[in-house]
Amino acid sequence: MVFFTEHGIRIRQERGVFYNPKMEELRDISVIMAKASGISKPRILDSTCATGIRGIRYEKEAGAIVDMLDINAGASYSASKNVAANKASAMVINKSIQEFANTTENKYDIIDLDPFGTPAPYIYDLMKIASKGAMLMVTATDGAVLCGAHQKACVKLYNSVPLHNELCHEAGIRILLSFISRMASQFNLGIFPILSIYKIHYMRVFLYLRSGAQEASSSMSANGYVSYCTKCHAYYTNAGIVAILDRLCPNCGGRLLHSGPIWVGAMDDKITINKALKAYGSEEYQEASLILHKKLQELSVPFFYSIPRITQSAGISSVSPSLVIEELGRMGVRATKAMFEKDCIKSAGGIREVTAAIKSVAAVNDRAAGK
Ligand SMILES: C[S@@+](CC[C@H](N)C(=O)[O-])C[C@H]1O[C@@H](n2cnc3c(N)ncnc32)[C@H](O)[C@@H]1O
Repeated sequence: MVFFTEHGIRIRQERGVFYNPKMEELRDISVIMAKASGISKPRILDSTCATGIRGIRYEKEAGAIVDMLDINAGASYSASKNVAANKASAMVINKSIQEFANTTENKYDIIDLDPFGTPAPYIYDLMKIASKGAMLMVTATDGAVLCGAHQKACVKLYNSVPLHNELCHEAGIRILLSFISRMASQFNLGIFPILSIYKIHYMRVFLYLRSGAQEASSSMSANGYVSYCTKCHAYYTNAGIVAILDRLCPNCGGRLLHSGPIWVGAMDDKITINKALKAYGSEEYQEASLILHKKLQELSVPFFYSIPRITQSAGISSVSPSLVIEELGRMGVRATKAMFEKDCIKSAGGIREVTAAIKSVAAVNDRAAGK
């Protein structure tokens, strides 16, 4: 048995029960988003509780009424002990999500799903116990699947074809959102994503469910495809489950790779993120606040351009992404760094504008170097 302390909560971790101290920043973001839901005393289901750290934090820090679930008896025992030791009052239930969701009368304002690997098998059942306008927080740690290292597994689990290149993380998040929206639509629910984040080992999406056939249909129209050019590294998004996709790149004639269905709508809602950050971003949640802050700075457009990939393919000497962003600004094109991807930029302009800006920066560099 090992002991940890996280935000003043002492957690005992029994042998075989999962706890990862490195995921603290993700739990911090989840607490911030729960607080930002604006619901006083939200009913939260921590549906994969392990030691119970998340649920206890929701109760202590967000004033929530919490139920916790875990299929594993050892985890449920551990969570119950931790609830008692921290003088919390959350209820711990030793059941699977599937069994619980199909037998309870309870409904939840916020549902947290943080399983091992893929969340796909649980989404449908969780829709049954979401209250009207509920917030879902969903983690996926099967990055290799969503990022295209195991294409067949992605098609099987998420019914989407992934990408396996520099766009793969964002494409993976968009596959996850698309999958959730398709499950939601079966319950006449639409989705409204408010925050989507990824790091090497995890993806996590936060979204509201919106009730009604029209909401469901409008979410379905935010499903579509991304096509990526293997030659010039342009990308094109198309909305619609039945989209007509070019085979060749309109910019250079290169071969296009297609991924989808993906969510082609917004992955983040800056109004909600800004409110959450202003109200709850603090020293206490330093890393989490930094992530939210970066989200606000990033241009909200689908996908991004990798500057080194474009320069290498075009035989141009390497250039600084910051200078390319400045040059695009001079050309009247909005652009920012892609905050979670090295040397990549988000641009309101397409591949032609980005390539022109790169060439212009490279020419200035060459002149300065006397070439
Ligand atoms: C990654 S851990 C959760 C970690 C926890 N949320 C935290 O922040 O420390 C995943 C947990 O989900 C539980 N689990 C797996 N399948 C489940 C199911 N079908 N229903 C409920 N819990 C499940 C596992 O027993 C495990 O304790």
